[in-house]
Amino acid sequence: MKQMIKVKVSAKKAELETVKTDMLIVGVFEGQKTNKLCKQLDRKLNGAIKKIINLGDFTGKLFSKAVIYTDRKIASERIMLVGLGEKKNATLDILRKVCCFAAKEAVNMKVQSIAVAVHPDMDGKIGKDKCGKAIAEAIHFGAYRYDEFVSGEENGRSKSLTASIIDSDAAAVRKLSAGAKTGDVVGRWQNYARSIANKPANVMYPAQVASEARKIVRQIKGLSYTVFDENQLKQKKMGGILAVGQGSEHRPAMIILKYSPPAAANQKPTALVGKAITFDSGGISLKPAAGMGEMKMDKSGGAAVLGAMAAIAQLGLNVKVYGIICAAENAPSGKSYRPGDIITTYSKKTVEVQNTDAEGRLVLSDGIHYAKELGAETIVDLATLTGACMVALGVHKAGVLGNDEKLISKLKLASEQAGEPIWHLPSGEEYAEEIKSKIADLKNIGSRWGGACTAAAFIGQFAEGAKWAHLDIAPMMEAGGVYKKIAAAGSLGFGVRLLTEFLELKS
Ligand code: BES
Ligand code: ZN
Ligand code: ZN
Repeated sequence: MKQMIKVKVSAKKAELETVKTDMLIVGVFEGQKTNKLCKQLDRKLNGAIKKIINLGDFTGKLFSKAVIYTDRKIASERIMLVGLGEKKNATLDILRKVCCFAAKEAVNMKVQSIAVAVHPDMDGKIGKDKCGKAIAEAIHFGAYRYDEFVSGEENGRSKSLTASIIDSDAAAVRKLSAGAKTGDVVGRWQNYARSIANKPANVMYPAQVASEARKIVRQIKGLSYTVFDENQLKQKKMGGILAVGQGSEHRPAMIILKYSPPAAANQKPTALVGKAITFDSGGISLKPAAGMGEMKMDKSGGAAVLGAMAAIAQLGLNVKVYGIICAAENAPSGKSYRPGDIITTYSKKTVEVQNTDAEGRLVLSDGIHYAKELGAETIVDLATLTGACMVALGVHKAGVLGNDEKLISKLKLASEQAGEPIWHLPSGEEYAEEIKSKIADLKNIGSRWGGACTAAAFIGQFAEGAKWAHLDIAPMMEAGGVYKKIAAAGSLGFGVRLLTEFLELKS
């Protein structure tokens, strides 16, 4: 199997004119005739940048580019000017997205090394460490593409990409470097999560998810893990995950990762619980054929938990965290659970199944109850849970719901810093009313309306007693909106940056 692109990002002290790289990347604001960096370069290039801007061939419009061949007048073979858009709109988020775009373009050009010169107006406003982190994450993000099953060595892309974030000032480099080190780790594990989510269901089924977790635990110090296979799930009477998985040849599994560094031994643990439906056909309540293949990415929540656990362990954060991944395939067969079935979940609460396609909440109910048994004080679950959340929010933000305002505020702060947007949707008794059953404790669907909220209300029943938040990441399951322009198609690995940032804020 072909290797995914290897990306390495670091900060280094270097001058624009002498940095040895395949391509120097310089940001330009829209409507600015020049800037400090361009002026400095133009002295060596006989005004080549000024010319391209004056001719109107490059305007600095957001996500535009122009490549200049330097004829070795500077050490770099090429310069890529990238448009930062209007200066008044410049934010950390724009910087991320532009770097993502630049890395994607560089990889398409088969370039092996880039040097990114940070626009002085950018890092002054945002802070150099934050800039370093965001740029490193963004370069990983933009360089990625999922082509493991496409034959051919390189398939029109660089084999690897080495990126340097450069500055001529040593103190600035130290700050950029601190951020870049973290960003390099987080970016790598986010791409890992993307690959897990992107892998097809014939390759990445629950036992394989478990084997990935095992590989990570072997690779990174400080993590340990347990897997409950189907027999153990039966012994424990985890009726939610068992019911969802019972129709498939691929047996379900609950995978538990533990990260507990000695310094955090006395902390009350946080649990991250991920939905990992390796394929969601809908089961007996079968989904329509159109677009069903995308449901291989219904394991995105679990993939993000796996990536985040790896990242926090590699960063050595001072937090005690469990990662619980509820893995099952939702398939229709003679053995499948059916509409009308009543199942007894791990918590002993019974559920009337009214739609086998509302399976995520069933696997999560067992995962969340188990998290409480492990003593988790705070629980954050991630799931591509509802199409309704996409109807509500489009493809630009994930939904956040929960029972603790402070926790939701912390997640929102982490979300802003990480550049993974979330939007608070309502919870309340009214929604919980809708998922009461006449013949069991709960039913697994509400009315036609507010599906993201009733789904969360269902999960909330199992989280009682803990501080809990639920991230409905269905809107961000795959590249839509701006990501169609600046990133590869497929999974966004949404949640890895957000969760890591959230736990960094805690540590
Ligand atoms: N995995 C889906 C939700 C989903 C849909 C995620 C589209 C990403 C993109 C989930 O299991 C599901 O099928 N939900 C149903 C719930 C309904 C039956 C109450 C839905 O959203 O239609
Ligand atoms: Zn479903
Ligand atoms: Zn699903």
